[in-house]
Amino acid sequence: MTNVFADDCLAGGTYLVTGASSGIGRATALLIAACGGRVIGSGRDEGRLAGLKDALPGTGHVVSAQALRDADTVTDWVKGLVEAHGPLSGVFHGAGVELIKPARMTRQSDLDNVLAGSLYAGFGIARAVSQKNTMVDAGSVVLMSSVAGATGQVGMTAYSAAKAAVEGLVRSLSCELAARAIRVNAIAAGAVETAMHARLTRGSGEAATAEYARSHLLGFGAADDVANAAVFLLSGASRWITGSVMAVDGGYMVR
Ligand SMILES: NC(=O)c1ccc[n+]([C@@H]2O[C@H](COP(=O)([O-])OP(=O)(O)OC[C@H]3O[C@@H](n4cnc5c(N)ncnc54)[C@H](OP(=O)(O)O)[C@@H]3O)[C@@H](O)[C@H]2O)c1
Repeated sequence: MTNVFADDCLAGGTYLVTGASSGIGRATALLIAACGGRVIGSGRDEGRLAGLKDALPGTGHVVSAQALRDADTVTDWVKGLVEAHGPLSGVFHGAGVELIKPARMTRQSDLDNVLAGSLYAGFGIARAVSQKNTMVDAGSVVLMSSVAGATGQVGMTAYSAAKAAVEGLVRSLSCELAARAIRVNAIAAGAVETAMHARLTRGSGEAATAEYARSHLLGFGAADDVANAAVFLLSGASRWITGSVMAVDGGYMVR
């Protein structure tokens, strides 16, 4: 029997990682490379992308600075990457922005901003990998969701709506791509200590942040905790898992 947990379990594959310039996406890109995969890392900040490229173990990795705005341009961008670098074995879609704003103050421009990076870009990726020769058969697509996709919180209407929509996309896309044995899954993360988390908790006092940590049975997570789950879902170890939303939340949602 093949050991799907071997050090080189992603060797020979090319993996597109969005949000690779920071946090969870960066940690996932580093772990993919450590498992032998070739990374196409994407984000908006060219300086941080260059830093990622230098940090990735192995050779052949590339970075592509791209602001993800709408499904059509994202589809074209992914197809361009495939023309240049070959078909993808997997995609980890980590790009996304947070928003804490009550519904009464949330404008169309806020919705556009929150939905662009996560849902519209996710849809553009979905369209691209649905087309011939863009993703290899038995490939894997992993999209970042959040506990906010299934739970409610004051000020999170737009963000929650975006992540719930991502989970809906995952369920139907998994049905469409199953004929090619391509798997599609989401990760619903709890609070993970990244730049996004720092921005979200910046205004909270020490007591409120401690209470927020306690709402997770295992406290706040680290980017590597999510990267480990992402690489599992990208690898052959999860070959019988599709259409699922995996909670990686330190026990937040059982409470
Ligand atoms: N941290 C948490 O507690 C947490 C919890 C649940 C879910 N999540 C989700 O996990 C994912 C990663 O979050 P993180 O904590 O790692 O955040 P982060 O450190 O702020 O990183 C976000 C990444 O997304 C990229 N990005 C955002 N909007 C983009 C756009 N429109 N086009 C292209 N790239 C864009 C950023 O690029 P640049 O920096 O280069 O601009 C950055 O690489 C997000 O989808 C987030 O919603 C996070």
